[in-house]
Amino acid sequence: MNAPTVLVTGATGTVGSALVPALRVRGLGVRAMTRHAGRDIDGAETVVADLKDPVSLAAALDGVDAVFLNSPSAEDAAAVQIRFADLAREAGVQRLVLLSQYAATADSPVRFLRWHAEVESHVRRIGLDHTVLRPNLYLQGLFGMAATIAQGWFGAPIGDATVSAIDTRDIAESAAAVLAGTGHDGRTYTLTGPRAVSHHEIARALSDVTGRDITFRDVPADRFAAMLSGILPPWQVNGLVEDYAHYARGEASEVHSSVADLTGRPARDLTDFARDHAAVFAAAPAEKTPTGEAAR
Ligand SMILES: NC(=O)c1ccc[n+]([C@@H]2O[C@H](COP(=O)([O-])OP(=O)(O)OC[C@H]3O[C@@H](n4cnc5c(N)ncnc54)[C@H](OP(=O)(O)O)[C@@H]3O)[C@@H](O)[C@H]2O)c1
Repeated sequence: MNAPTVLVTGATGTVGSALVPALRVRGLGVRAMTRHAGRDIDGAETVVADLKDPVSLAAALDGVDAVFLNSPSAEDAAAVQIRFADLAREAGVQRLVLLSQYAATADSPVRFLRWHAEVESHVRRIGLDHTVLRPNLYLQGLFGMAATIAQGWFGAPIGDATVSAIDTRDIAESAAAVLAGTGHDGRTYTLTGPRAVSHHEIARALSDVTGRDITFRDVPADRFAAMLSGILPPWQVNGLVEDYAHYARGEASEVHSSVADLTGRPARDLTDFARDHAAVFAAAPAEKTPTGEAAR
């Protein structure tokens, strides 16, 4: 019997690019989705499709056993993901693993969490085998701050609050464990790092591995929004302000054991992330960016 084939959406993105090799290591077939014709993805059959184009999705879904559903933040992300889930069910896909977010709830003051909750509740209703992964803040979001970090600082409206931020490699490896394993139908896993860290601790970890003096600045929310406006659309600026207010209230600091439970080894620590990516933060700035916010 052939190994099951998984369609990975967002295969060139933050989590997806680590998920493709993690699935291959576990012996699964991978169909990697990208919008760009001619883009090869190592170890996978590449399929060109767009989440906004149902015809291309029908072809991408044809003959796959399972799907990993992940799309970037967008105002229409919930509608796009809901349509994809429906198309997957119509195509006879047996399992869907959904990438959601820590603390997704329908009545959250954070729009991203409401959008994720809307997709979660749809996926639970449609009768597919499904598993929901709710990762916390991505440590890899720091890559979006590399230019200001190269100047010695990064900022966000979070104060001294701690967040159990996660290395996205652990999200990918947890997703691979779910897709290759059994007993995960109907489960929701909150994925976090092994401890909750403040942004001051993040700055210290980056300083330690680069030998540079990197500091964190607590930026008021209105200044944070002003720095981002004109760079990001208003919905995204406002969403990021809501996200950081949620972090600042200490609502994203719980530590969960799901990464270790699923993968059989501890979640990577902030210090592991910093050590493995020291070169990214050591470089001199190529150009100035206005703030060091985590891109979403
Ligand atoms: N950042 C955080 O801290 C955090 C925390 C928890 C949850 N999340 C969630 O993680 C999710 C992913 O966010 P991310 O920023 O890491 O994005 P990402 O997965 O890196 O997204 C980029 C990927 O999306 C693909 N893509 C973009 N538009 C597409 C379209 N119309 N159709 C098909 N594919 C498309 C791109 O592929 P191609 O360019 O190759 O087509 C690329 O692979 C979001 O739902 C976010 O809410 C983020």
